[in-house]
This record gives sequence, structure tokens and C-alpha cells, in this order.
Amino acid sequence: MPKFYNSFEECLGIGGDSKKVCLQIGAPGAHSMRNVAKMMKEATIKHFDESNPRNEEILQYGCCSGNYELKQELAKYLSESYRNPVKSEDIFVHNGASQGLSNLLYYYFQRGETLFVEDPSYWNLICDLKNKNTMFSTKTIGIGMDINGLNLDELENHLKDMKGPEPNDRYPYRAALYLIPVYQNPTGYVYSDERCKEIIQLARKYDLMVISDDVYNLLTYSSPDCDDPILAKPPTRLFWHDNKDDEDYKESVVTLSSFSKFLAPGLRVGWFEMPRRMFRIFETYFLSDSGSGWNEYTSGILASAFKLGLIQDHVKKTRVHYRKLIHELNKMITDRLSAFGVTCNYPTGGEFLWIALPRHLSADVLLEKCKEEITFIPGSRCSISQSHLNYLRVCYAFYDDDVLIPAVGKLCDYIKKYIEESE
Ligand SMILES: Cc1ncc(COP(=O)(O)O)c(C=O)c1O
Repeated sequence: MPKFYNSFEECLGIGGDSKKVCLQIGAPGAHSMRNVAKMMKEATIKHFDESNPRNEEILQYGCCSGNYELKQELAKYLSESYRNPVKSEDIFVHNGASQGLSNLLYYYFQRGETLFVEDPSYWNLICDLKNKNTMFSTKTIGIGMDINGLNLDELENHLKDMKGPEPNDRYPYRAALYLIPVYQNPTGYVYSDERCKEIIQLARKYDLMVISDDVYNLLTYSSPDCDDPILAKPPTRLFWHDNKDDEDYKESVVTLSSFSKFLAPGLRVGWFEMPRRMFRIFETYFLSDSGSGWNEYTSGILASAFKLGLIQDHVKKTRVHYRKLIHELNKMITDRLSAFGVTCNYPTGGEFLWIALPRHLSADVLLEKCKEEITFIPGSRCSISQSHLNYLRVCYAFYDDDVLIPAVGKLCDYIKKYIEESE
């Protein structure tokens, strides 16, 4: 019999009497939701204000590529935040990055094409690919990374030997490359501009679709020239590097993004930034055409929240809060564990600490030791090649500080004990 759960927390075995702290959860937590709940209420009241003559429109079927007002507001907000233009006509609203990604791969990759992924990458996708749950690709290849991004020599060696169906009008891409170039999950790495440009060149040369998962881009805490989390500029997104004016432009990059990380995952709203031909195909795709937009109602309320400035304020507060946390947690881990050979990243954005134990140790073994009290994502789950065994990913977004900080302290105790036992 399948088991039914009443809540996300019950499903994870936390909440209620359980004292377990799940540092694996990559989602904003209760502190953030309290503010988003107030915001959604205010935006809903504002939206249905009787003086708004078009207020009922969001109850009707919408435009195939998403709510017009949301696309306008989002383009304005993203352009201001990125300090580089995002056009509303490139934005296609979907139900969150997971559903967007599934639909993209399902539509374009039906012929057993290869899917290249970073090694390590987003654990949920990697586990799905490893379990062969997925319907969209028969072959997945992991490509290693350094702090500036994907190892392109390794990628090109695979591309040179790649066999598979020839591209045609219906299937214009030879393979897919899934990347998280900004505040990568799990490492926190940010791709350098140079690496981004080289990726575009390779994508054009080998007819790749590059799916740039940008769900963390707005969670910026500092940039090379600015340590202020409110003023810091997010890194340039890959879509921008795929310049439409280039002679060899081939519609190589699509951005996948979401409200899940900077606002709330329950909203189930996200967006693609899509090249023209792909956009036209998605507009006429059954899901958008028959459904007339993927998420009209919530999109309309979010547009009103933008107009009231509520989302903008929330993101600012979130950035300041996470920036402070990163500093505190990184310091705690480094002060307590660096003498034991443990390292921890200092991310400039995103949601994760990526902690490395000494090489001979295993994060899976550590998890077995502490799982009744604390859980995290061991590196093995993030890696398609089953490497990164000594790494663990800790998310600082979900819990209030009074639970999070002692839990990370306790995790340090477990790590120290494990290292001492193994000596
Ligand atoms: C890199 C990455 N992409 C996508 C998602 C899921 O996004 P959504 O909630 O919009 O489906 C996550 C959530 O953890 C993620 O880390």
C-alpha cells in the first residue's frame, strides 16, 4: 500500500515529536514562508480590488506563453537585478524548473540522444537518471568541473566521438547539456565569463541544446566588486552570452528558472527564457495551447505582488539573511574542523555549503552515524559517476537560525568524532 502523508515535514519524518534536523532540504523555510504568506494575501486583495477592471481575467484561460503582466513585471525586475536586459517576449511561464525541464527534454530528446551533466550536479535529477526513471534520455555522461565551471576538454572529447541520430527540423539538437552555471548546486561555483563563451562555441559546433538552470541566480550575497548583499550584481547568465547577433547563432541556450528558491516552491511558477523558434514551438505545444498557459491564476497574483514591490523587498531581506548565515556557518566549520583536514566553500550566492572531509572518508558512512539527528546530501548522490564520496551538501535555507546553527554545530561534532575514530 502506498503511504499518504499530510505534509512535506511528515513525508521527511520531521516535525511533531521528531528532533531530526534535515539539512538536506533545499527550500526556503518557515521564517520565509511567514512573509510570503502575508505578501500573497496582500497581493490577492490588491488584485481583486474592485477598482481593477481586469481583475477576473486570471480566472480565465490565459495566453499560451504565460500571463502577460507577470512577463512584463518579471522582465523589468530581472533586467534591473541582472543589470543586463531580459526581454518579456523571451519569457515563457511554466510550473517550476522541474516541470519545465521534463517538458523540454521530453519534447526534444526522444531518440536516445545523450544528456551531459556536471559531475557533481543537482542530486534529484542525478538520482532520477541513475535509477533510469526518466523517459527522456537513454545515456547520461558526467563531466568534471573546476571552480570556473565545466571541464571543456573532457566534454569535447566525448562530443568528437558522439554517435547518434542526425539533427533535423523536428529534432534540431544532437545532445543536451544540463548546467547550473550560477551558484551551482551543490558546489556553489560560478562559471567564469570565459568558460561561458567557450561553452557557446562548443554548443554551436556540435548542435547542443544547453539548458542553463538558473534557479539560484537572484540569491546573490556578494560580487567581485561589492560585498553588500543588496547591491551586489548577480553573475551574467549563460543565455546572455548566446548572442543573437552572432553570425553563427544557433539558438543553443535556454534558461530554466523558478520562484521556488527566492520566494516559495508551493507557488509552482517558474519560467524559461527561450530562443525564438523554441518559443514558438512551445506556444503551440498541446500543454500550452490546449491549457492556454501553465499557471495563469498564481502568475496574475505574482504580477500584483511585483507591482506592490513585495517580491523585491522579500528578495532583499532573504539575501541579507543568507549572507549573514553563510559567514557564521563557514566560520564555525572552518574554526572547528580545518585542523582535521575538512574544508568548506564560502559561496557568493545560492543555498548550499559544500563540505569536504579528508579524502579517505565517506559522507555516506557519516550519514549512517548521524541520521537519527541530522541528515544532509552525501556527495555520492550528486554524482553520476559515484565520485565525490567524501563531500556533503548542507542547505542553510530551510530552518530558523535557532535550529540551524546548533544543528550545524552538532554536525561538526559528528564529523570530528568520525575523523578521530578513523585515525
Ligand atoms: C538546480 C535546481 N533546479 C531545479 C530545482 C527544482 O525547482 P522547482 O521547484 O522550480 O521545480 C531545484 C530544487 O532544489 C534545484 O536545486
